[in-house]
Amino acid sequence: MTISSATAAFGVYLHWPFCLSKCPYCDFNSHVRHAAIDEARFAAAFSAEIAATAARAPGRTVATIFFGGGTPSLMQPATVGAILDAVGKHWAVAPDVEVTLEANPTSVEATRFAGYRAAGVNRVSLGVQSLDDAELKKLGRMHTAAEALAAVAVARANFDRTSFDLIYARPGQTREAWAAELQCAIREAAEHFSLYQLTIEPETPFAALHASGKLVIPADDDARELYDLTQEVTARAGLPAYEISNHARPGAECRHNLVYWRYHEYAGIGPGAHGRLTIDGKRRATATDKRPEAWLSKVEERGHGLLTDEALTREEQADEFLLMGLRLAEGIDPARYAALAGKPLDVARISSLVGDGFVEVAPDGRLRVTRSGFPVLDAVVADLAA
Ligand SMILES: C[S@@+](CC[C@H](N)C(=O)[O-])C[C@H]1O[C@@H](n2cnc3c(N)ncnc32)[C@H](O)[C@@H]1O
Ligand code: SF4
Repeated sequence: MTISSATAAFGVYLHWPFCLSKCPYCDFNSHVRHAAIDEARFAAAFSAEIAATAARAPGRTVATIFFGGGTPSLMQPATVGAILDAVGKHWAVAPDVEVTLEANPTSVEATRFAGYRAAGVNRVSLGVQSLDDAELKKLGRMHTAAEALAAVAVARANFDRTSFDLIYARPGQTREAWAAELQCAIREAAEHFSLYQLTIEPETPFAALHASGKLVIPADDDARELYDLTQEVTARAGLPAYEISNHARPGAECRHNLVYWRYHEYAGIGPGAHGRLTIDGKRRATATDKRPEAWLSKVEERGHGLLTDEALTREEQADEFLLMGLRLAEGIDPARYAALAGKPLDVARISSLVGDGFVEVAPDGRLRVTRSGFPVLDAVVADLAA
């Protein structure tokens, strides 16, 4: 199935903000709680926020749903089912809706996969991170490679659609070691995987180690070599990058993430979730309170946990559209940029970037970043958006 970028899809993102422990590289909105989480109370709050959001953005047909985290695979299947019921109660749901749940690949979590499937989940994305036990330890992970691969097998037995994440360009990682890990990943992958270069996120334990010289990540040239190797090997294996870090067999792209990258409309539900909703003809950026218990109280008091809810200017929308769309191999439609910005992209800037080999204009007129452009994507976007 080819997914047309012209077909606007509506997605619902649901953020489950809890993890069993905090990985030292991660700056996602995730929290460790030693007391049990009152899942029924959270499920009721998710349902209330879904109702409030649907009241503001009624009449949509939900094409994609994504439980992200944190660690959504810590949720009981009944909690997932209750939240999905609320989505179905307040919006129409497409018959072929994609429902993804992010899972940590431990044996305990794999035991819940059948329950998630029964609740309506039809795609699972597992955070495998590495296929080497020593490396997993350094990443602070609570699973071994064998356990992760066993969870991948359970996921594949339960779901037609699965994906997993790996982190590469790790400290000391050689070309040979990554090539071997990647070959193993390709053997294990069904239709999709995400391959992220390790980034040092501010205020994480890795950032402190990095600042003190105790954690050294590959230099830019070495990281670039690993990136190029990744592109070549995955393309040869039939899993080319359709986005800077995401690889799929054609037709198996994550439709939910395409909603973001194609700059369509999505609701953000749960602590720290972001949304983009068009209300009264205006595209609005929404964000909820990141703190789980504060979000819960807000929803219980007033029906939603919104902290930010503002209309975006034309310029902001056009910049976001570029930033998201140029991550995709398919690139962007310059006419849509012009419609959002109220002015076309600067022809001279495009020519200069084409001359430098960073972007290309496809035969159908779409503007795409080239393989040489992807490693410097931020600069390319900044240049075009200026
Ligand atoms: C929301 S997180 C994780 C889902 C799940 N909790 C897990 O850890 O398996 C999504 C993905 O982001 C990636 N990620 C998180 N922090 C990263 C970092 N600093 N550098 C590169 N990738 C990162 C990991 O691959 C992770 O699986
Ligand atoms: S990587 Fe996943 S498990 Fe680790 S802290 Fe982040 S969200 Fe939680």
